[in-house]
Amino acid sequence: MAAQPEATVSDLNAYWMPFTANRQFKGKPRMLARASGMYYETPEGRRILDGAAGLWCVNAGHGRTEITQAVARQLEVMDYAPPFQMGHPAAFELASAVAKLAPRGLEHVFFTNSGSESVDTALKIALAYHRAKGDAARVRLIGRERAYHGVGFGGISVGGMVANRKVWPAAMIPGVDHLRHTHDPARNSFVRGLPAHGAEFADDLERLVALHDASTIAAVIIEPIAGSTGVLLPPQGYLKRIRQICDKHGLLLIFDEVITGFGRTGSPFAAQEFDVVPDIITCAKGLTNGAIPMGAVLVSKNIYDAFMQGPPGAIELFHGYTYSAHPTACAAGLATLAVYEREKLLTRARQMAPAFEQAVHSLRGLPHVIDVRNYGLVAGIELDSIAGSPGARAFGVYLKCFERGLLIRTTGDIIALSPALIIEPKHIDELIGILSAALKE
Ligand SMILES: Cc1ncc(COP(=O)(O)O)c(C=O)c1O
Repeated sequence: MAAQPEATVSDLNAYWMPFTANRQFKGKPRMLARASGMYYETPEGRRILDGAAGLWCVNAGHGRTEITQAVARQLEVMDYAPPFQMGHPAAFELASAVAKLAPRGLEHVFFTNSGSESVDTALKIALAYHRAKGDAARVRLIGRERAYHGVGFGGISVGGMVANRKVWPAAMIPGVDHLRHTHDPARNSFVRGLPAHGAEFADDLERLVALHDASTIAAVIIEPIAGSTGVLLPPQGYLKRIRQICDKHGLLLIFDEVITGFGRTGSPFAAQEFDVVPDIITCAKGLTNGAIPMGAVLVSKNIYDAFMQGPPGAIELFHGYTYSAHPTACAAGLATLAVYEREKLLTRARQMAPAFEQAVHSLRGLPHVIDVRNYGLVAGIELDSIAGSPGARAFGVYLKCFERGLLIRTTGDIIALSPALIIEPKHIDELIGILSAALKE
C-alpha cells in the first residue's frame, strides 16, 4: 500500500456517525483510508493491524482482487435489477451456493441487505409460518438477555442490551420475552473453548413455556456465540438442550449467525460446529466479505414448503427490499464464497485456534484482566470497570491500541478480537504484543 496524498476532510459536522460518541470523535478523529490483507492504513500512512475483521465481516482479509473485479464486472454488465417478480442469474446462483454451505435441511435463502434486516425478516417469516400452518395463536417471540440482533424494531425487541432498548420502550413489538443469559463468571472464567457449566440455563425456556404456554410462542432466537455483548460462549450442551425444548413444544429455533456465519468458529456456520441445526439462520457480514452490504435468511425446506401453498399465481410472502439480491452484492457474494472455498478459509479457524487461544490466554495476569474466553478465531478479554464509568477502561485500551497500530473492538469493558481468517502466527504475535503493551500502560 503506497501512501497517497489524501483529500483532507474540511467539515466533520454533517455526518451523524452510528454507534459513536460523535462529539468526542469529531474533537479527535480517527480515520482509515486504505486496507489490504490484515491491515488498514490511516490517511497519514500509519499501518493498523485489523484485529476485528473490520466489524466481524472481512473474513478473507481486505482488498480481495477477485471480489473487486467481480463487483466491477457486474456493475458494467447490469447495475441493478428489480427483485420483485423478476430475477437475475447471480441471485439464484448465490442462493444455491449459500444453501450448499448451510447445515442440512436449510435449503432456501431470502436475501436482505444487513444483519438487522435478516433478523427482522426471520422473525416475520417465523410468525407468518405458524399462521400459514393454521397456528395463528403462536405470536410470541423469545429472545435472550444480553443478545444483540441488530437495530430494527424486531431486533431490539428480542435483543437484550439495555442501551439499545431503553429509549424506545413503547415501540417494542408486543409479546416478546427473554431467556436469561448464560454468562456465569463465578463458574466459568479463563475458560478455553466452551464453558463446562451452564447447560441448565437452557431450562429457562421451559419456564417461559410454562408461563406463556407453548401454543402462544412462535420462535426462539439465539446467537450461538453472543458477540456484540462481549463474546459469551454457549455452555457445553446448552444449544442442544434449547433445540430439544423447541422440538418438544413446536417452537422454531432461529440462530442469529451474523457474526458466527462464514467460518468464525471453524465451520461454515456455528450450527455445524456445535452440531445443532436450527430452523432458520440469519447471516450477513462475511457473506460478501464486508465489501458490499448483504444479508441472508436461510430457512428449512419445511418452512419454505408451508408457504408454497394456495394458488400458484399468489405472492407467498409480502416482504422484501428494493435491494434484496442486488446484482453487485450477489457478484461480491459469489466471489467471496469462491475465495473461501479455494483457500479453505471456512475451516481455517480450527487450525489457527490453538495458537490464537494460547496467545489470548497469555494476557491473563495483566492489569485489570478479569477474564479471557475464546473459540475458533474469536476471543473476549474482560476488564474490571472503573467505578462509575462502565466502558471507560476498555475504551482507553482501544485508543491506546489504535495509537500503537491495532484495531480492536470493545463493548462495555470487554475487548472482542475477531481477526480475519487469513491470520498468520506473525499477526497473532503482533496483535498480542500491541494489546498487552496497551493493557500494561
Ligand atoms: C448477531 C448479530 N445480529 C445482527 C447484527 C446486525 O447486523 P447489521 O449491523 O448488519 O444490521 C449484528 C451486528 O453485529 C450481530 O452481531
